[in-house]
Amino acid sequence: MEFRNKYICITGGSAGIGKAILSDLINRGASHFAIIARRKEPLKALEDEFPDVSFLLISADMGNPAEVSKAAEEIRESWGRLDILINNAGVVSAALLDEMSDEDIIGQIGINLTGLILFTKKCLPMLKESNEAAIMNVSSGLGFIARPFYNVYAVTKAGVRHFSEAMRRELKDFPIHVMTIYPTATDTPMMKNATVGNMDDPADVARVSIDGMVSGEIDVVFGGDKRLEDIRKNFLEPGEMDKVIETQFDALRERTKDHRAM
Ligand SMILES: NC(=O)c1ccc[n+]([C@@H]2O[C@H](COP(=O)([O-])OP(=O)(O)OC[C@H]3O[C@@H](n4cnc5c(N)ncnc54)[C@H](OP(=O)(O)O)[C@@H]3O)[C@@H](O)[C@H]2O)c1
Repeated sequence: MEFRNKYICITGGSAGIGKAILSDLINRGASHFAIIARRKEPLKALEDEFPDVSFLLISADMGNPAEVSKAAEEIRESWGRLDILINNAGVVSAALLDEMSDEDIIGQIGINLTGLILFTKKCLPMLKESNEAAIMNVSSGLGFIARPFYNVYAVTKAGVRHFSEAMRRELKDFPIHVMTIYPTATDTPMMKNATVGNMDDPADVARVSIDGMVSGEIDVVFGGDKRLEDIRKNFLEPGEMDKVIETQFDALRERTKDHRAM
C-alpha cells in the first residue's frame, strides 16, 4: 500500500497509540490526515509538531451520535473522499461490575463500540469509492480473553473484533482491507493509572500494525506466542483458563483499582 496520496482519518490520533500511528504513517509518506478527539489543545499541537502535514482537525466526542455524524460530514465536505479509516479512540474503566458507575458502563460501550460502528457506517460511502482502502479497528488483548474488572471494556473490544469480521465479509466486493489490532499493555496516557510493568512502546505497536496493513494481515495480535497459546486455551478449555485467571485475581484487583481513563 502506497500512503503518499491517501486520505486518512484516525480517531483518537492526538495521543497514545493513535498519535504513534499518525507519526508512523507520516514517516511512510502520508500527508493528509483527519484527526478526531474531544480536546482541542492536543489536536492543535499536532500542527506544530508535524508542520509539513495537511490536517483536518475535528473536535468531536465519539460517544455522541450527532457529533459522530457531523465529523464524517466534515470529512465529506472538506475532502469528498477517504481511503483509510483507523478506529482507535477508546476509553477504559476497571472495577467489579457492581462497583462500576452506570455512566462508565454506558460510556465505554458508547465510545468504544457504538461510536466506532456509527462512524464506520457514516464513512463507508467514501471508503467504497476508493481504489485502495483500509479500515483498521483497534481492539485489545481483552477482546480475545476477558478478565475480571475489565468486564465492560472486554465486551466492547470483543465487539470490535466481531464487527471487523462481519465487515470484512460484508465488504468482499470492495477493495477495502478490514483488519483488527489487539495491543497488550502499551505505555500511553490511558495506562497512567494502571500499575503494569513492561509495557509495549506505542511506536512499536504502530510500526507492527502498519506493517500488518501493508502486508494485508487480518489480525495483528501483540503479546507473542504466549498470548496466542492463551487465546487457544481460552477458546478450547475455558475452565482451564478460569483456573489460571483465578490465581491472578488479587494481583489484578490491586493493579486495576485506579484504572480509569474516560
Ligand atoms: N494503552 C493500552 O495498553 C491499550 C491496550 C489495548 C488496547 N488499547 C486501545 O488502543 C486505543 C488507544 O488507546 P491509548 O492507550 O492510545 O489511549 P489514550 O492514550 O488514552 O488516547 C486516547 C485517544 O482517544 C481520544 N478519545 C478518547 N475518548 C474519545 C471520545 N469520546 N471521542 C473522541 N476521541 C476520544 C483521546 O483524546 P481526547 O481525550 O481529547 O478525546 C486520545 O486522542 C483504545 O481504543 C484502547 O482501548 C490500548
